[in-house]
Amino acid sequence: MRKQLFIAALSLAALTAQADEGMWMLTDLRAQNAAVMRELGLEIPIEQVYSDNAISLKDAVVHFGGGCTGEIISSEGLLLTNHHCGYGAIQQHSSVEHDYLTDGFWAMNRNEELPCEGLKVTFIDRILDITPYVQAQLKVDEDPQGTNYLSPKYLEKVADRFAKAEKIELTPATRLELKAFYGGNRYYLFVKTVYSDIRMVGAPPSSIGKFGADTDNWMWPRQTGDFSLFRIYADKDGKPAEYAKDNVPLKVKKHLKINLGGIEKNDFAFVMGFPGRNWRYMISDEVEERMQTTNFMRHHVRGDRQEVLMAEMLKDPAVRIHYASKYASSANYWKNAIGMNEGLVRLGVLDTKRAQQEKLLARGSEKGDNSYQQAFDQIRSIVQQRRAPLYHQQAINEALVTALDFMKLPSTKEVAVALSKKGGKDSQKEGEVLQKALEVLQKNGEKYFASVPFPEVERAVAKKMLKTYAGYIPQEERISIFKVIDTRFKGDSDAFVDACFKYSIFGSKENFDKFMRRPSLNTLEKDWMLLFKYSITDGLLKTALAMEQANKNYDAAHKVWVKGMMDMKQENGTPIYPDANSTLRLTYGKVRPYEPADGVVYDYYTTLKGAMEKEDPNNWEFVVPAKLKQLYQAKDFGRYAMKNGEMPVCFIIDTDNTGGNSGSPVFNGKGELIGTGFDRNYEGLTGDIAFRPSSQRAACVDIRYTLFIIDKYAGASHLIDELDIVAE
Ligand code: ARG
Ligand code: ASP
Repeated sequence: MRKQLFIAALSLAALTAQADEGMWMLTDLRAQNAAVMRELGLEIPIEQVYSDNAISLKDAVVHFGGGCTGEIISSEGLLLTNHHCGYGAIQQHSSVEHDYLTDGFWAMNRNEELPCEGLKVTFIDRILDITPYVQAQLKVDEDPQGTNYLSPKYLEKVADRFAKAEKIELTPATRLELKAFYGGNRYYLFVKTVYSDIRMVGAPPSSIGKFGADTDNWMWPRQTGDFSLFRIYADKDGKPAEYAKDNVPLKVKKHLKINLGGIEKNDFAFVMGFPGRNWRYMISDEVEERMQTTNFMRHHVRGDRQEVLMAEMLKDPAVRIHYASKYASSANYWKNAIGMNEGLVRLGVLDTKRAQQEKLLARGSEKGDNSYQQAFDQIRSIVQQRRAPLYHQQAINEALVTALDFMKLPSTKEVAVALSKKGGKDSQKEGEVLQKALEVLQKNGEKYFASVPFPEVERAVAKKMLKTYAGYIPQEERISIFKVIDTRFKGDSDAFVDACFKYSIFGSKENFDKFMRRPSLNTLEKDWMLLFKYSITDGLLKTALAMEQANKNYDAAHKVWVKGMMDMKQENGTPIYPDANSTLRLTYGKVRPYEPADGVVYDYYTTLKGAMEKEDPNNWEFVVPAKLKQLYQAKDFGRYAMKNGEMPVCFIIDTDNTGGNSGSPVFNGKGELIGTGFDRNYEGLTGDIAFRPSSQRAACVDIRYTLFIIDKYAGASHLIDELDIVAE
């Protein structure tokens, strides 16, 4: 009875709730959201969106490569995602001779589809709320540190146990993922199937797929054809398999219907995808910490690195192709950090956060329950303690780890072991470990030099990064190599970098070969790059230890805090959702314009005219391909045009999404595909901390533009023939 009342209360609340905030768990849709969705425009039963025992739309939504979303659009395993999600794969297949990044790629038949090493696509077979089971296990298992409840290792064990007990069928391609939600207040198990023969089918040139590049990234209005196509292959029996030439296109359980009817203002839309992370349950101190550490370093360090890299990339197409993907991912969260910090201040998000937490604290004290106050105070003091190590850790990570490819030296562990035995009593042992180190060095050396084909670029970046790092970290706190730089190189970090490349065995293939011909521990002991590398590792270790110390009670306090927020919402009848954690979610809302500033309205869609307006042949970011211009001038849009004859490109919806949602299918009320999500607007970047329905929008490529490019621009009509298209 109580449960029924509870569900009734939830649905009533849902009726009055707004159509905006929320990355909903599919398993809770029926109880929490179905009524509102129907009211807003969902025309199909919620069981067709998600069902725990029948095929539903969710079976056509996949995790693409771990960081993005994709959707299945034909019965033969054709997969649609973003251009920026396929970017790494497109780059892998590109060379100066076959520059698919610049020119695009279209497989004109199945034989031309290109296998993508390392790329995986994951289906979610089942989602189970097994909170009571996990809680029971937590009680019986040994747990001296009290950390089991969030430990991925422990949860993995529990997942296996559960699968055995429930006789869940496991194949070699099955993955079980048991995750903690709401800070460890609930547990969901995901049963997944992973496919590893994924082939590239089509990608527009970057001048379409990445039109506007970094200037337009995280911006609206936008005219980017941010899509690419892949295909899932399986063995002859339709089972997941590693790449093999005679694997066949996967006959899927479910593929999406595509609707060319287009969108109108206020149309209902919903999106399924795999949002990565957000932090809606942070206290205001944590938001400030984020601004001053992670975001600060992303902004300043990446900005410096990108400037050097871009100059080199513009000089040489081979350099451009090699660094394209790295540059793009660096630039993406560089701009995200800038925009988020700006927005947090401008939109007064800290005040909103403070008001929220005041409410919870007041509620606690009203009830005579001081656990929230305790949790709050604890989080506060933890944030204070971990600030310095976090700041330093971010500096090391940004400037010296992510930025410096040449620091990914091979076999450093084995070399360290050999060095630790040097000069000991046991000279035989010394010889053995050196021998072992040399073997692995030999094995990995080739790969290392292949991975840094442009040492001059690395050298230029390193010079810049050492200065940048030193600019943010006071002398006495810097990693230990700076003592060497200060003494041996009189503080001249450029000279140190030059010495690295000149003398280190990793500085050039010649040096390396010379060393391998006459190896000695003495040489290794004095190797500048090795010393640099060990110093970075040491710096990371020290900051990690300091953080661990500070963070000791964080998880427990956070769990209490989240529980408080959950209870407060549920008492008000507001439906709840957990922070994003790369699991499948649904968000719904409407096609809606917005006002970025007083007196300014940004419309809800863009057309190809906008691309022509932005065209700048002298700026790589805004080049328009000649063929696209011809099609535009001839108004040769086929059946993909809007009723007024214009060619739609992108549109925005007021749904709740974040990084990882990229490539997500955008559905109309009938559950048909109308677009592919690819970005957020600048004003919406604070959404990772707090959602603002008035200013946050998700940007989507209109499916009509995608099909227009495939059909009219690329002439790949054989792909169009595979699709299931409804006109309206
Ligand atoms: N902002 C988009 C999202 O995070 C990615 C855009 C990719 N383009 C770029 N210039 N990095 O996925
Ligand atoms: N562009 C993002 C993505 O890759 C989407 C977002 O952050 O809103 O998932």
